[in-house]
Order: sequence, then structure tokens, then C-alpha cells
Amino acid sequence: MDKILFNGLSELGTHVDRVHVFIIAIMAFCFIACNAVLIYFMLRYRRKGPDDVTASIKGNHLLEAVWTIIPTIVVLIVFVYGVRVWGDMRKPPENAMTINVTGVQWAWRFEYPDGRIEAEDLYVPAGQPIRLNMVSNDVLHSFFIPELRVKEDVVPSQYTHLWFQADYEGVYNIFCTEYCGDNHSYMLGKVHALGPEAWDRWVRRVPDPDAVQLSPAERGAKLYSKWGCLGCHSTDGSPNIGPTFKNLMGRSESFADGSTVVVDENYIMESIKQPNAKIVAGFKPDQMPAFEGQLSQQDITDLIDYIKTLNE
Ligand code: CUA
Repeated sequence: MDKILFNGLSELGTHVDRVHVFIIAIMAFCFIACNAVLIYFMLRYRRKGPDDVTASIKGNHLLEAVWTIIPTIVVLIVFVYGVRVWGDMRKPPENAMTINVTGVQWAWRFEYPDGRIEAEDLYVPAGQPIRLNMVSNDVLHSFFIPELRVKEDVVPSQYTHLWFQADYEGVYNIFCTEYCGDNHSYMLGKVHALGPEAWDRWVRRVPDPDAVQLSPAERGAKLYSKWGCLGCHSTDGSPNIGPTFKNLMGRSESFADGSTVVVDENYIMESIKQPNAKIVAGFKPDQMPAFEGQLSQQDITDLIDYIKTLNE
């Protein structure tokens, strides 16, 4: 039988389990200690007769300080420990492979950088960090791989991310873990973590013509010309009416109001939908039409993937 805790399938999962066990152990210790003291006091100080009067105790500053400071320290240790592991969970390694995930009622759809599309089942190389760039086409979903201890909400109109690494070959369950309508409980899938040879075979597999179209970036490049983005946004770094798309992703962008942001998928989506939300320093507002409602979520994801290819 598989071990429930410390299944050894991913390093991150091991860290998550350690935090979990650490908190459970502290809770168990407190529970047992409190109840032991409670039972001892019940016996030791029980009323022995009608004349047995409780002593009048006005308070004890030392005792109060001790029972405030010690739990505070314990809670802070739990917080710091938890937040460090959480930080690791939020920050994908540099060499992570990004796969686009779309949640729809009621299935998962995975699109690879080469344009390959998989429904329900996610194929990844074992031992490789995978970053999922996720968005929903309709309602709230939540992407959950319990055995690898990763879970993240998948929502419309906003990209959410998670990363994981399956250290070994194997098949792991994917659940939708947020109620999303009638067939929520059938919104299942599998992660297939493949060894080097199997992964190679999968990548070179003669593609099912229906399952491979243009890659997301290639579709994005077409949209870039179709919607006239090229009139204002260069791809070679030269300035124009709008900021260049060259090296845009990950760039630290400064705005007219003095604030800055590191460009990510959500920033680009906002700038496509509501160009006036943030005006890059040195550029004028009201130069670009708002594409809110004009482009589908898929189009926006494709454009973003195209922009990602302009980084060098
Ligand atoms: Cu999708 Cu529940």
C-alpha cells in the first residue's frame, strides 16, 4: 500500500509533509499536555466537603507572561517554517517547462509549447520541473495533484500558476477540487511522469493531426499581425507608439505614476484588455483600443506565448 505521508514522490511534497507533521505533533503535544493537567487538577483540587472553599487568587503576572510568550514563539516558528516551504511552492525553478492548462466544464486541457494538445491527461518528463500556466474558460475550478501536494485555483480572466516535479516515473491523479457544476466529480485526469526514453517517444510520436495545430506562439504571431499590434509594438526593441515586445516578459516595467511591476502573464492580459490600467513611463494613455471582450481567452494566451518567444 502506498504511504499516506512521505510517499517520496517529490521533494516539495516531502517538505509539505514535514510541515504538516510538525504542526500535528505540536497540536498533539498541546492536546495531551492540556488534558493531562486538566485531569490532574480535577482530582487534586476537587471539592472535598461543604467547607472546602476555593482560594482567592488575584492573578500572576509571571505565569501570564510565560503562557503568552511561549505559544507566541511556537506559533512564529510554525509561521516561519510554513512560509519558507510556501515560498518554495510559489517559485518555480528557472529551468521549469511551462504548459498551458485550461479548465472547462468539465475537463482539463493541456497545451504544450509545440502545439500538442492533450485532454485530461498530462504527460511530463520525470525529474523535470513543470510550471502550469492555468486559466478557466467558464467557472471556478481548482487543479489538484494530491500525491505531489500541489493545488491551485483555476479562475476565469486571470492566470494562476503552480509548479511541481515528479521525481519518479509514475501515474498520479488529477482532481478538480472546487465544485464547478453537475459533472465536477468527473473532472479527473492523470499525470503521466515518463522516463527519458518514454518521454522521447512521446515527444516524437507521430502527432495526431487533430491534436496538433499551430503552436500557441505561432497562432499568437498571426494574431499579432491580424489585430494590428505591430503598428505600435515593435518586436526588435525599437521604440514606437507603445512599448516594444522584445524582452517584455519578465522585464521590470516602470509606470507614469512611479510604480513598477515585473511583467508576467497577468500584467500582459490586463494591458491587452484595459490598456489604460497601467501606462508605461514615457508613453501616452488612450493610444490603444481596449480588447476586453474582443479576444477569447485562448487568443490572449496565444499572444502571450508569442511575446514570450521575443525574449533573448
Ligand atoms: Cu472543475 Cu470542479
